[in-house]
Amino acid sequence: MTLRSVLIAINVVAILVILGVLGFRVLRVRHRPDEKPAQNVTPFHDDDVLETTHLENVLMWALIVSAIIAVALPLYWLREPSRQEALAAGYHDSAVERGHVLYSNKAMKTYDSTQSLLCADCHGTDASGGSAPFVITSDMQPDKDAKPVQATWKAPALNDILLRFTPDQVIQIITYGRPGTPMPAWGVAGGGPKNEQSVTDLVAYLASIQISPAKARARVADDLSKAVANAEAWVKTATDNLAAAEEALTQAQGALDQATTTAERRSARADVAAAEADVEAQKRAVENTQAYLDEVSAANDGGEVGQGRLLFEQQCARCHTSGWNTFDPTKPEIPLPGPQGGGAFGPNLTGGATLAQFPGNPASDPKTKGFLDQISWVADGVEANKPYGVRGISSGRMPHFGKLLTEDQIRAIVMFERSL
Ligand code: HEC
Ligand code: HEC
Repeated sequence: MTLRSVLIAINVVAILVILGVLGFRVLRVRHRPDEKPAQNVTPFHDDDVLETTHLENVLMWALIVSAIIAVALPLYWLREPSRQEALAAGYHDSAVERGHVLYSNKAMKTYDSTQSLLCADCHGTDASGGSAPFVITSDMQPDKDAKPVQATWKAPALNDILLRFTPDQVIQIITYGRPGTPMPAWGVAGGGPKNEQSVTDLVAYLASIQISPAKARARVADDLSKAVANAEAWVKTATDNLAAAEEALTQAQGALDQATTTAERRSARADVAAAEADVEAQKRAVENTQAYLDEVSAANDGGEVGQGRLLFEQQCARCHTSGWNTFDPTKPEIPLPGPQGGGAFGPNLTGGATLAQFPGNPASDPKTKGFLDQISWVADGVEANKPYGVRGISSGRMPHFGKLLTEDQIRAIVMFERSL
């Protein structure tokens, strides 16, 4: 039982006693309505008693009550800081709970159909990342007459988000969303449905589920070690798809041979043409996956810059390379990404852009300022509106990687960027 409930119990008992006494008195008067003399004509103590025992009694009670106050006040004062802390912690816990409900989707026990915003649908119920459907419209494709394509946009993990962004930056992202991506604006200021309180509740919830830097680093290492295997899996998928398409073509040709009427022959010929087109598309997919596997294998054997490339693809390309979020070479209809580091949400880093922002040649001088500046930008960055590099101004929108990546990994990425 907490102190609070003890105090409440004492108060309830006291009120009951007072009510009992009052009731008893009223009832007694009703039952024995014999007249009593008025108090002012009843004789009281004589002077002797008044000035000795009676006075002493009154003084003793005064002393007792003063003593209680003298003890109780400092006790209350002593308890005050921890009481305030407990209150703040209580507020924090309920913010986390509210944020949890907001984050939830139907697969979670905390789901509430009137409140939940379904973040988990895209970012995963454990916030370890997921995906969202995304339509690549005609004008986003190299061939403007192409049909819109249904693709899958990767949604980042949020259980390490505070290793990469500050809480204020996360509030900013949730409030304004990421235009041009499936991530909607949630805050009123960004045109979304939720007030600032809800957005801070979401961040409080995210803060409560962050994994340790050690775990996050292990995840980075694991992803890196799987780069080649993933590319190989893509080649296998594309090869299987091609085999299936060739099989379908053989069947369509068989059907054409069996066709007797003119109408049957016409429709069978259309099926063969469609199957042939699919075989061609799947052949392109096999080539694309094979080319990507070659690239990844070369990078994997390519020393520091090669490792930098793989890390860049996994950590940076989603913002710095157009089309990277929907990249899937097994699907021939999905356009291939633009040049690596060619710019998307984050600026173009190719064609000497990085060397202009962070000049100097680390090969001749490893302590060259631009190189060290670039490492520090990627690792720690600067606050929004503060300068970086030669003529950069931070918008506070780039995550920083000092807590997620090792020094060697950041160095490798920077060496790769400088090679672009
Ligand atoms: C429809 C799918 C979808 C929903 C729902 C959604 N997100 Fe996102 N979110 C995304 C995608 C996709 C991205 C990555 C955008 C990009 O590529 O820049 C993203 C990015 C983010 C980021 C930035 C992460 C980073 O590392 O760049 C945060 C933070 C975030 N979302 C929080 C939330 C929260 C909180 C909710 C629920 C209120 C939510 N999202 C709901 C799809 C979604
Ligand atoms: C969530 C999106 C996002 C991710 C992920 C991201 N960046 Fe950035 N990056 C940006 C934005 C936006 C800028 C522009 C600066 C700003 O707005 O503060 C930027 C700027 C830069 C610059 C400076 C470019 C210039 O010429 O001024 C470099 C270098 C850079 N990023 C490297 C990286 C590296 C390396 C990684 C991965 C380890 C990375 N970025 C991951 C969004 C991102």
